[in-house]
Amino acid sequence: MPANPIRSTRLAQDPPPKHSPLIPTVVVASYKGGVGKTALTVAIAERLAWAGLHVLLLTCDSQEDARHRLGVQASDPVVARRTYGSEGSVTVIGIRGSKAVDLLYRIGPARIGSFDIAVVDTPPEVQGGALPGVLLLTPVDGTDAARNLLTMLARTPSNTDIMLIRVGREDREDWAQNARTLERVLGRDVQFLEDPLPLTKLIKQAHDAGRSVWALPRSGVTLDYLSSVDTLAETAWERVHPRRKWPSMPSQSAAAAYVPGWDDDE
Ligand SMILES: Nc1ncnc2c1ncn2[C@@H]1O[C@H](COP(=O)(O)OP(=O)(O)OP(=O)(O)O)[C@@H](O)[C@H]1O
Ligand SMILES: [Mg+2]
Repeated sequence: MPANPIRSTRLAQDPPPKHSPLIPTVVVASYKGGVGKTALTVAIAERLAWAGLHVLLLTCDSQEDARHRLGVQASDPVVARRTYGSEGSVTVIGIRGSKAVDLLYRIGPARIGSFDIAVVDTPPEVQGGALPGVLLLTPVDGTDAARNLLTMLARTPSNTDIMLIRVGREDREDWAQNARTLERVLGRDVQFLEDPLPLTKLIKQAHDAGRSVWALPRSGVTLDYLSSVDTLAETAWERVHPRRKWPSMPSQSAAAAYVPGWDDDE
């Protein structure tokens, strides 16, 4: 018997690795806190809604940050829905732990509504990357120790696609090399966004005030941020419509018709 037997730390309620969620699902997770997970989740959910999809946004952290970021008031319904353009919508619901796993893998969201895709915001925790059969988006910042990242991604099931996103500045070549090293250590394919997701004051202000980043002037670093989010949303879209063209984003003035107004469809 080996002196150090391999131990599994999978949670009992985790679905087995071969499982897939009942609808296409994107999970935003990183081991580290404050790297922009919620900001990214909300921006992607909105972009997919502007593309005409019905998006279910699950906010799995206790603060339910995503609700506030979407401009939902505390007094708004528990299941709050906003429409985008003539077809799309984002429905946000706070749900955690095994309940979220049940909803995604066993029950499905039919009781809440009909959805094309789920986008899941997670708290910073090591099992954030453990859901099978999803597109996993992992923002990484410079101070994120490689070991922590490895700890999280080592638990990522083989049928989940990993996409790493560098937040802040880094030389493109260094970043590509880091991602390739990680790929080698993990012994599996890892995708990464070539351009880093920039940090900008305008983006921070919009997120913290519950305003849509898609209503910001599309220039400079803000445009770089939005372009990167657009690319990630397109990758998610391909899970829903593999052969359909990615719809272009409406103009900023269309997006600016972002007003409070949530309805309870239950
Ligand atoms: N691209 C960005 N540029 C500038 N500020 C940003 C950007 N993305 C997020 N922020 C800001 O950084 C802070 C942390 O972002 P956010 O809450 O999205 O991170 P998080 O990873 O979800 O944090 P937590 O681990 O606490 O859930 C917020 O104040 C947010 O507005
Ligand atoms: Mg968060």
